[in-house]
Amino acid sequence: MLILGIETSCDETAAAVVRDGRDILSNVILSQAAHVRFGGVVPEVASREHVKTIIPVLDQALSEADVTLEDIGLVAATMGPGLIGPLLVGLTFAKGLAYARGIPFVPVNHLEGHFAANVLEHHDLDRHHLSLIVSGGHTLLVEVVEFGNYHILGRTKDDAAGEAFDKVAKLLDLGYPGGAELDRLAQSGNPRYVRFPRAVRHEDYQFSYSGLKTAVALHLKKLSPEELEKHRADIAASFQEAAVEVLVEKTTKAASQKGIRDVTISGGVAANSRLRQMMAKQLGQHNRRLFYPSPSLCTDNAAMIAAAGFYRFVKDGPGELIANAIPYLTLD
Ligand code: KG4
Ligand code: ZN
Repeated sequence: MLILGIETSCDETAAAVVRDGRDILSNVILSQAAHVRFGGVVPEVASREHVKTIIPVLDQALSEADVTLEDIGLVAATMGPGLIGPLLVGLTFAKGLAYARGIPFVPVNHLEGHFAANVLEHHDLDRHHLSLIVSGGHTLLVEVVEFGNYHILGRTKDDAAGEAFDKVAKLLDLGYPGGAELDRLAQSGNPRYVRFPRAVRHEDYQFSYSGLKTAVALHLKKLSPEELEKHRADIAASFQEAAVEVLVEKTTKAASQKGIRDVTISGGVAANSRLRQMMAKQLGQHNRRLFYPSPSLCTDNAAMIAAAGFYRFVKDGPGELIANAIPYLTLD
């Protein structure tokens, strides 16, 4: 079965065609440039950009997959969590398309989409696994009993991991969103230059990033412009080390305590080179396996939505066309 995925929960307009939740025939992602001058996503601007580009993006996804709408057996679109206006554009568009063409429709939880990116790519991943979802809006540690059955072990109490990367990147004048740029800069820095605080309460799986972000801001205030210029990469690396260490420590501990062999990371921050490296090392030492998606499937995309939509469809059948956008949709 060919699944058409549509994703518009934030500032990426995306459409993809995936076969049977396994093979990606096309995965078109248009990152809206309109927000750059504002230094962050402006929801109303995002909605308007989605309206302008959703049809060309769909056309490109169909053409790259070398298929037409006649070939599509299922339409899947993100219903939440995300920004209400942007969500409504993609969801309404997808429902209209499904209704007009008589194609079954499935609304998709964006978070389920993120971890489905691993199921899509790694076919030997255990059904029961531990999943760390780290994106611009979320930091969640989840025990996936099976697809659709989740125990949330921990989440962030304040900023999401990606949000912390973006805020620190902004402090370092790296532009927006600066997570990937910070990762690049940190590669030439000394991670032991400053020991920023690790918000680790050993007894639970909760995360917190606002203290770390403030610590970086306070440290920067103490530096002269010359010192800042000289140590920009060191500060990026020191921040990244603190941000990543907590994620790795809690995930490794949860995998051991719960006796779970396979661990996945997903979401934009799963593209982080230090997170991948440190997590692989720690889990390897505990005889655990780590899986992460290709970089293009870490940040928001529609192939992961198509895949999650397919797994939902197999489990529960088609969804309802009355499904509405839910900005604060949770996994459980
Ligand atoms: O999953 P995503 O595209 O959007 C949300 O659902 O939020 O994640 C975007 C986030 C941004 O905060 C971005 O800065 C961060 O992922 N990000 C990274 C890297 N690449 C993207 N953070 C750290 N290192 C990276 N290499
Ligand atoms: Zn996302």
